[in-house]
Parts: sequence; C-alpha cells; structure tokens
Amino acid sequence: MRRIGMLTSGGDCQALNAAMRGVVKTLDYSKEEVEIYGFLDGYKGLIYGKFQMLTGKDFSGILTKGGTILGTSRTPFKTIQDPDENGLNKVEAMKQNYYKLQLDCLVILGGNGTHKTANLLRQEGLNIITLPKTIDNDLWGTDMTFGFQSAVNIATDAIDCIHTTAASHGRVFIVEVMGHKVGWLTLNAGMAGGADIILLPEIPYDIDKVIEKIEDRDRKGCRFTIIAVAEGAISKEDAKLPKKDYKKKLEKRVHPSVSYEVAAAIQEKTGREVRVTVPGHTQRGGSPCPYDRVFASRLGAEAGKLILEGHYGFMVGYKNREIVRVPLEDVAGKLKMIEPDATIIQEAKLLGISFGD
Ligand code: F6P
Repeated sequence: MRRIGMLTSGGDCQALNAAMRGVVKTLDYSKEEVEIYGFLDGYKGLIYGKFQMLTGKDFSGILTKGGTILGTSRTPFKTIQDPDENGLNKVEAMKQNYYKLQLDCLVILGGNGTHKTANLLRQEGLNIITLPKTIDNDLWGTDMTFGFQSAVNIATDAIDCIHTTAASHGRVFIVEVMGHKVGWLTLNAGMAGGADIILLPEIPYDIDKVIEKIEDRDRKGCRFTIIAVAEGAISKEDAKLPKKDYKKKLEKRVHPSVSYEVAAAIQEKTGREVRVTVPGHTQRGGSPCPYDRVFASRLGAEAGKLILEGHYGFMVGYKNREIVRVPLEDVAGKLKMIEPDATIIQEAKLLGISFGD
C-alpha cells in the first residue's frame, strides 16, 4: 500500500487537473494499491490538516477542466518559517501531518515560490516530487511549464481581437500580458499576434525608441500599431535604480500598471490616441489547450513512475523535447529569464519587431 499526498499551490493555471490525473492514472494502471490524500488550498491544507481522500474516480473526466479540483492559495515562502497568527510552526505542522498520515510521498504542483517550500520540505526529510506549473514559464530546469501554452493561446487571441479594432480606428493599442517578472508569455503571444513592439522585463525600454517605431510605421502608411507589454516591463531609466528605490517608485505610481504609464508617455509625446487592454486573469482561465493536456499528462505519467520506483526529490521537467527528472535543489530559488540576445529575440528583430531598446 502506498500513501500519496497531493497539493496544488500558488496561482492556478490550465492543466493542473490534467497533470494530477496523469499521476493517478499511472498509479492506477500499475495495479499497486494506493491511497491518495488531496490537501485543500495548497500548503494551507497540509499545514492545517485539511484534506480529502480521493480515488481514481475523482480524477476521471478532469483532463479538460481548468483550475484545480484541490483548490489553491498563495503561501509565501518568505514567511513560511514564521509562526502563524496562533503561534503555529507551519513547517513542523506540515511535517506532522505528513507523518500522521504515514505518507510515502507528497506530489506538489506549483511554480517558483511553491518549489522553494517544496525543497525546504525535502531538506526536512519528506519525500517530494514536483510538477512545474505556471503560465509564466519562468521555472528553472524545464524548457516549459504546463499552463504556458494555454495562456499563450489566450493572450494571442486578445491581441488578434485588438488588431481589427486598432486597424479600423488607426490607433496605437497596448495589450498588457501577464508573466510576473519574465517575458516568455508576452514574447510568444506578441510574436504570434503580430505585435509591432514588444516590451519585456529582460530588455528595458526607452520610450523614445518605442515612439520612433510608431512614427516609422506612420511614415510607411500603417494606420495602427500594436504593442505587447509584459506586466513586468521596465524602462531603461527605472532599470538603473537600486531595487529598493524602484519598489518605492512603484508604490507611488499613479497609473494602475506599466502599460498605462507607457500609454500616457506616448500620448503626451505624440498626441496619438492610445488604448490599453488588459486580459488579466483570463490568461489563466478556461480549459487547457491540447498541447498542455498532452504535456501535463506526460509529466504526470513520469511522476507516477518516480513514485512507483520510490525515487524522490525531483521535479519532473522538460529538456530538449524529453521529459526529464531534475533534482529539486537545482530548481528552487532560480528564475528562468529570457536572454536579451537569445536567438528568438534576434529573429524577432529581423522581422522588424521593436523591443524599445
Ligand atoms: O504566476 C502567475 C501569475 O498569473 C502571474 O503572471 C501574475 O503576475 C500573478 O500570477 C498574479 O497573481 P494573483 O493571481 O495573485 O493576482
């Protein structure tokens, strides 16, 4: 008999259910006797002992279902070692619940913050296997995370829809894309949606260069310009600030986000009409795209295999088109960012896309 705990933590994304289903199907198919404990709302469930016993049936029919059947929450790593409001030691509480239920291993689905806590639990002696979820695609040790391709599809649809209205009105349009501190989602959706300018956190922009590109398009008779802006995009000027000063500046920002700041600057300098569209959390919503369904199922199958072999302490990742096992300690605390001179950036530049640099 194997006892497996499972939880989803951090922001949700598409294919979380598909990945869990992949793990459980693999275990079921092996004919091993397995008990599954699904912890509710991320690490909170593990801390406070909130769980449901699940069977293979609970994972049936969820391949196409968005969100997570276990619920999720953000439990910041920064404060995970601090006692909660009632003085409870959260790390100890997680360990106790794990041991009380006599778990053989804990399968954790999450992004960056989640992996830091997962690695801490590993260091504390728990058997951990993780799966890389996030629309941001910023996890170290894997070429791709599940949720990313689905989000690219949604952000691309948003840009596609903006194209027609931008063309009719001859406007400059900004579409703000999620991605936290990295630009993978914006770069891919921007290229797929035919954006003329793409602003990324990894390539600080100069507003005058952005305007140069808009004016260049005007001169060529293009009636509109589409700018894909990552929510974490930053100007060259701000990128020079020490982190603390930049944080303070952000606290005082009068605009709701960087896109509105860019729009205001363009409007002020050129007198052009600029509109901003923010698809926001729609990028994390809805059914996983077929790619993510397959990808998450493959990752889940490998996680199931690891459990059956009794190999723990790994994130199941994807490298050079292969599903791979990456030691958790190599993943935790590292961000996978776009290299400003990556070939994809060079190719985008050859296509005439401006990064405002
Ligand atoms: O990490 C996924 C993500 O959607 C980021 O792209 C975004 O910055 C953040 O989560 C939003 O977080 P929340 O759902 O807490 O508003």
